[in-house]
Amino acid sequence: MNVNKSVRQLKGMTYMLTQQTMDIIKSTAPVLEVHGVTITKTFYKNLFEANPSLLNIFNQTNQAKGRQQTALANTVYAAAVHIEKLETIIPVVKQIAQKHRSLGVLPEHYPIVGEFLLRAIKEVLGDAATDEIIEAWGQAYGVIADVFIQEEEALYAEAENRNGGFRGFKKFKVVKRAAENALITSFYLKPADGSALPEYLPGQYITVHVEDPNEEYIANRQYSLSKSYDGESYRISVKRDNKNTPIGKASNYLHDSLQEGDEISISVPAGSFVYEETQKPVTFIAGGVGITPFISMYEKAAKTNNASVKMIHSATHLNEHAFETELSTISLPKENVHYVQYASDTNGLITKEYLVEQVDLSGEVYLCGPVGFMQTVINALVELGMDRDRIHYEFFGPAMNI
Ligand SMILES: Cc1cc2nc3c(=O)[nH]c(=O)nc-3n(C[C@H](O)[C@H](O)[C@H](O)COP(=O)(O)OP(=O)(O)OC[C@H]3O[C@@H](n4cnc5c(N)ncnc54)[C@H](O)[C@@H]3O)c2cc1C
Ligand code: HEM
Repeated sequence: MNVNKSVRQLKGMTYMLTQQTMDIIKSTAPVLEVHGVTITKTFYKNLFEANPSLLNIFNQTNQAKGRQQTALANTVYAAAVHIEKLETIIPVVKQIAQKHRSLGVLPEHYPIVGEFLLRAIKEVLGDAATDEIIEAWGQAYGVIADVFIQEEEALYAEAENRNGGFRGFKKFKVVKRAAENALITSFYLKPADGSALPEYLPGQYITVHVEDPNEEYIANRQYSLSKSYDGESYRISVKRDNKNTPIGKASNYLHDSLQEGDEISISVPAGSFVYEETQKPVTFIAGGVGITPFISMYEKAAKTNNASVKMIHSATHLNEHAFETELSTISLPKENVHYVQYASDTNGLITKEYLVEQVDLSGEVYLCGPVGFMQTVINALVELGMDRDRIHYEFFGPAMNI
């Protein structure tokens, strides 16, 4: 074994995993692929039993639906596969770190998570998880945790150093409420202490602490900022989730209880789903309330991009297209900028034929909406020959494999 060869650089940090450790990690990748979700479900169950206060951070619905466990299992599996070249997973780490920072994940949480993750691997795999395997994963977890901690500290410092910035959560006052349609209501928020409003990039979101007095724990929810930065207020636009049982906890609480003059805690805007300025054609495709991150992105593109800029908004019925006036106004002065509505009740789901007609496939596509909607559109775009790295998308929940 050549120890020197195992000294690696990751984001300027030196870390050392012996070749033997890395071989053990790689050899466990197939097992993780099969048992990953069982391991992460066991992990969360034990973690919350021993540390109930963490229920104030984690979204319990994502737990109940298994989405968070799947997202974590996919990341652990990716780390095992790429253990010899961890820099491969840096883009994923950056996106997760944004979410962690917006939720208030701290360095001291990492050893707790590490301990319960190793215990869950042991519990699920039994004798197959030898001491050697647990030791190897312990070391690898330490390296990965250090990368997250370093990345997140940089994000905390950056959030704090913005004009009006701060660490963690701060009270904002609801200065205005406005119904956008039958289901979507916007809330305009200003810092309660009158300080400056931290700037954000088009497409970013905030995390909101929803503190329903009838609930034991805080519900953390993310909401995209649904207008361009104006130095005055943030706007979030929340869809009331009342079609399924149980009804959505946070969105119904906000609709029913958050009134003008009330205060709510939020963190500094975060997120890596942002508009990258370009002179190539750009198409934004939104499903339902997935329109929210695009209002500021579309406005920015309309102002700065001289190629074709198109906003396609799909909703069930034609009269359900929230923000119609705003989006039409953005496209008004410029011939290269177009706003198109799509109604799925009369036209069915968006098809490949529709995309060929509407999307300039030589450019960039940004997508946000329900998982099934994104799956259909992304698959169709790839079949039409678009490179995956020109298709950018945001999930309104933990990231999934598409
Ligand atoms: C980056 C980002 C940006 C977002 N931006 C927006 C935005 O701009 N506007 C917006 O409206 N939303 C947005 N969201 C989604 C938002 O964060 C919430 O997820 C959404 O408001 C629903 O939260 P809720 O508490 O009302 O529903 P939850 O209580 O979380 O429930 C959600 C759904 O899960 C179902 N469910 C609950 N429990 C179970 C169970 N045990 N089994 C099966 N199903 C169950 C419910 O019936 C409901 O349909 C965004 C999310 C992210 C991650
Ligand atoms: C190396 C260790 C870790 C890894 C690999 C990891 C991975 C992930 C992943 C993949 C997501 C989903 C991101 C998304 O798509 O939105 C996530 C979200 C999250 N993580 Fe971590 N995480 C780690 C450590 C931690 C720690 C220490 C905490 C603190 C207790 C934490 C708390 C959370 C929370 C609260 C969420 C959001 C969950 C939700 O809303 O459902 N994570 N993490």
